[in-house]
Amino acid sequence: MNATLSPIGAPGAATGAAPTAFIRKGAGDKPVLVYENVRKTYGDFVALNGVSLQVNKGEVMCLIGPSGSGKSTLLRCTNALETLNGGQVYLDGVPLPTRESEVRRVRQRMGMVFQSFELFPHKSALDNVAMGPITVLGMKEDEARTRARALLDKVGLSSKADNFPANLSGGQQQRVAIARALAMGPDVMLFDEPTSALDPETVGEVLNVMKKLAQEGMTMIVVTHEMSFARRVANWVVVFENGAIMEEGPPEQIFDHPTVARTRDFLSHLGWDG
Ligand SMILES: Nc1ncnc2c1ncn2[C@@H]1O[C@H](COP(=O)(O)OP(=O)(O)OP(=O)(O)O)[C@@H](O)[C@H]1O
Ligand SMILES: [Mg+2]
Repeated sequence: MNATLSPIGAPGAATGAAPTAFIRKGAGDKPVLVYENVRKTYGDFVALNGVSLQVNKGEVMCLIGPSGSGKSTLLRCTNALETLNGGQVYLDGVPLPTRESEVRRVRQRMGMVFQSFELFPHKSALDNVAMGPITVLGMKEDEARTRARALLDKVGLSSKADNFPANLSGGQQQRVAIARALAMGPDVMLFDEPTSALDPETVGEVLNVMKKLAQEGMTMIVVTHEMSFARRVANWVVVFENGAIMEEGPPEQIFDHPTVARTRDFLSHLGWDG
């Protein structure tokens, strides 16, 4: 049996070292996402070269690895922004659809937060959050706005509901973007370097919101270069290299006792010294 598909994570399994007993978060539940030998190519270039992975319910999975290693590509394959060239991604046991109408429904179940916040510039923070539920889910305006206020409160922005994006800091805009994604009631949140474009002083406020979401049990996949966040908040860390998984395991393994020397090299390049 493929170790990555086992409900029991086995640190060291990738190298054949004796596995230490470690129960992954959500191991008793059906996995939310399963990637089976996923391949994605662009012409001759292989961006994902047979990635097999599972994401359990309530788990925070951090994807780390060098630039160009395929992390964003995997996220795009997750919400069907890309078509696969091989393998399969299963959401709740069902293969991702290819028909556009079904793809839209699946995408609604995944909240996506990008490095660039992509808020609507001519709408207030409140309307940015309320708009999706009104236009896509057909929610009544009053109800959507009430919910949007609660979500802005959750991300610490109740006093900024009427501000337009241009009058919010980067960290505040990103928190609105998180509230907007949550407004659709997603089962999974996908984050692609959500703090990379932020001024250092606003990074913490966004990471704190993400940490709170994790504590509430949201299933999350987070591509990040914030190693201390990954160390503290992730339940499972996956290290990518050249479109493949170099190593995966609990944060204690990856950051304190990596089983693959190149994981250690990658982390020390980033200045990670534990
Ligand atoms: N549409 C595309 N056409 C051609 N090549 C692409 C395309 N999208 C991605 N790639 C290539 O696929 C590889 C993986 O890209 P990806 O964006 O997934 O990397 P990444 O791990 O997210 O990197 P970074 O940390 O810099 O964001 C890169 O070499 C990239 O140039
Ligand atoms: Mg990327």
